[in-house]
Amino acid sequence: RCCFHSAPTPPPCLPEFAFAFDIDGVLVRSSDPLPRAHKALSYLQSQRIPFILLTNGGGKHESDRVDDLAKKLEVPLDTSMFVQSHTPFADLDEYKNRTIMVVGGVEDMCRRVAERYGFKTVVTPGDILTAYPAVWPFSQQLLPYYETFSRPLPAPIDPTSPSTSLKIDAVFVYNDPRDWGLDTQVIKDVLLSHQGILGTLSEKNGNTALPNKGYQQDGQPPLYFSNPDLLWAAKYHLPRLGQGGFREALEGVWAALTGGEKNGVELKKIVIGKPHRPTYEFAEKRLVAHRKRLLEQNDDKLRSLKRVYMVGDNPESDILGGNSYNSPHGTDWVSVLVRTGVHVAGTVPKHTPRMEVGDVWDAVSWAVGQEK
Ligand code: G3P
Ligand code: MG
Repeated sequence: RCCFHSAPTPPPCLPEFAFAFDIDGVLVRSSDPLPRAHKALSYLQSQRIPFILLTNGGGKHESDRVDDLAKKLEVPLDTSMFVQSHTPFADLDEYKNRTIMVVGGVEDMCRRVAERYGFKTVVTPGDILTAYPAVWPFSQQLLPYYETFSRPLPAPIDPTSPSTSLKIDAVFVYNDPRDWGLDTQVIKDVLLSHQGILGTLSEKNGNTALPNKGYQQDGQPPLYFSNPDLLWAAKYHLPRLGQGGFREALEGVWAALTGGEKNGVELKKIVIGKPHRPTYEFAEKRLVAHRKRLLEQNDDKLRSLKRVYMVGDNPESDILGGNSYNSPHGTDWVSVLVRTGVHVAGTVPKHTPRMEVGDVWDAVSWAVGQEK
């Protein structure tokens, strides 16, 4: 066992375990820090026990969100210990010089995040509505709002001249859509288009001789979702619909238009975020690198990371993800469920955690006790 003790002075070596903390429902409820979140994180920092924050949330650049959280939780944090829903999108270099559509979030903050990731041409549904208000008749009352941050489109929507019309090469839902109607309409327009060219309809749609009955078989762009959460723990006392709610609504429209999965026409999409493996792989890489930096700062010898305590409030994302993640380094991810978010005390969670506790401080106390 690593030399680990409860004295206020940090131990001479880094332990062989670390933590991954979910944010909403574990550390905060919307903008309100949870009562013992500060105590838990500052204790770990005093003991030099590494941790990362791993959230299905997003909507801001990592540096801005981490600054907000550091102030709210009154603990020093930096982007090396922080993974949010869309963070992995920053690595998709193949789209950086192409035209992408980014959906969701407040105003066009997610567009600006994508641009800070290096994406050169980013279009939003608000840009499209501002340029062509008729694209969605039911958001006319929101035009003044959109006009405050929309930008001119890089090309017109002109179905009579497809070669010069606006072509979308990938669609990314970065954060929870604020205008489900407009966003559903525009994504549907892209998915049924000819090769992602807005304003066109693919001749292949409905062609039963083609796979997927022709739908999304005509060069249409990939559709990425950053967060599968159907529900999440916000300020309200009951869980709220998350980005997974928007995706389910879109799937319903898709099914109505194409017959959907029942009719053999699945909506082709890529969904990342907890509980999916790519997000846990990305998070483990980030944690290992962060821990290595801590070791170097204190010239400790590099001990292998044996266990990661995944502390979360949502059985569908945090617990399922922690339980099913099979680390390539042989690290054991131990899921710990708290009762301060989506999961309600006294109910049986759909996915069984290694341990269930009251709040984040109980989770840290229990885990550290396991390591003594
Ligand atoms: O949009 C945020 C919500 O989906 C949950 O985030 O921090 O509980 O993974 P988190
Ligand atoms: Mg949560």
